[in-house]
Amino acid sequence: MHFRPAVPADLDVLNQLELDCFDSDRISPRSMRRFLKRSSPIFRLAEHDGEVLGYGLLLCHKGTSLARLYSLAVSPRAQGQGLGRQLMAQLEQAAEVAERRFIRLEVRTDNAAAIHLYQSQGYKIIGKRAGYYEDGGDALCLEKRLHPAHPQPENLPFFSQTTPFTCGPAALMMALHHQDHGRPLDRNEEIQLWREATTVYMTTGLGGTSPFGLAAAAARRGFEVAVWASHLDVPFLSSVRSAHKRDVMTLVHESFINECAQLQVELAVKQLTLPDIRRLLDEGWALLVLISTWRLNRNKAPHWVWLVSMDDDHAYLNDPDTDEEYDRRDLDNLFMPVRLDELNALTRYGQQRYRASVMVRRR
Ligand SMILES: CC(C)(COP(=O)(O)OP(=O)(O)OC[C@H]1O[C@@H](n2cnc3c(N)ncnc32)[C@H](O)[C@@H]1OP(=O)(O)O)[C@@H](O)C(=O)NCCC(=O)NCCS
Repeated sequence: MHFRPAVPADLDVLNQLELDCFDSDRISPRSMRRFLKRSSPIFRLAEHDGEVLGYGLLLCHKGTSLARLYSLAVSPRAQGQGLGRQLMAQLEQAAEVAERRFIRLEVRTDNAAAIHLYQSQGYKIIGKRAGYYEDGGDALCLEKRLHPAHPQPENLPFFSQTTPFTCGPAALMMALHHQDHGRPLDRNEEIQLWREATTVYMTTGLGGTSPFGLAAAAARRGFEVAVWASHLDVPFLSSVRSAHKRDVMTLVHESFINECAQLQVELAVKQLTLPDIRRLLDEGWALLVLISTWRLNRNKAPHWVWLVSMDDDHAYLNDPDTDEEYDRRDLDNLFMPVRLDELNALTRYGQQRYRASVMVRRR
């Protein structure tokens, strides 16, 4: 058996394997072509006497230490002879070379062969998705840590933002819900929080949410809240050209600052260091941090995530921005491991390297 990276010339044989191995949820020929063209996936074939008998495809997400097993298939002619196991070993080796620490995957609950294979290779069940497949079948989510790492807390809440401008509300909702299970985790609350915390304008499109607006919204809901930021002036004002927009953003900002004072939100010009994060998490604070999505998907946008926890070499983020276009589902964005040196670069935005974090804790 010979293992090698897949190349665009393998397209037809891979499309045929999809037909032979899967009854539904096949990778479309268009997506297959896309995966073959991209350089970031780990795509390996098993070949015998020039015949392709199986493949495995791992997606590696930029800026994180995570890889997702997107597909694994062995031709029915070659199944049950150890090939699936060998392909998994090949993928794991390549994942380690690509500095991945975690592999996650989804598998149908009725796929006994695959579940047996994964569990015997050290994959552990971390969740279940009802009605996940085209035909309504359920999925199990499994994960393997290639090196021992921090365990994922049970029942960690996750909410995918439902608009491009509600990352802040979605991240805040998850953090508040985690602290107090009575807090809602739904679209009504998502939009309500946005209306309370939006900056109204941004460079383009609708405004996102301001750290001070989010802080006031959390304080109004009875939480203890603090904001640490590079400065307490209007965030991103210099990136907006229109004088009218700047005027409105300033007005909104001033009202947030007043509200924060009334609600006893602590505002500080301070940079969050790794020892600070460790201490604040130990003290029971939930941390929302502003990041630049540049390092994750090469789209430069300010974006809010919830920093759930941290160990010696990774921080774990709940990122509400799931996006099929970038192959990011909740499996990828929940408890997403990011190396600590990467975190430092991730948590600053734009040329001015603006940093902001909102901390919330149940009173
Ligand atoms: C799942 C799949 C990749 C496994 O590949 P394979 O080459 O047949 O697997 P292996 O021969 O390496 O077997 C791995 C383990 O699974 C076990 N296994 C294989 N078929 C099984 C079955 N039908 N039921 C239970 N266990 C089975 C083997 O006994 C072996 O375990 P062991 O070493 O403890 O005996 C292959 O069956 C396949 O392509 N299926 C269709 C596509 C698919 O379901 N892909 C997975 C999507 S998540």
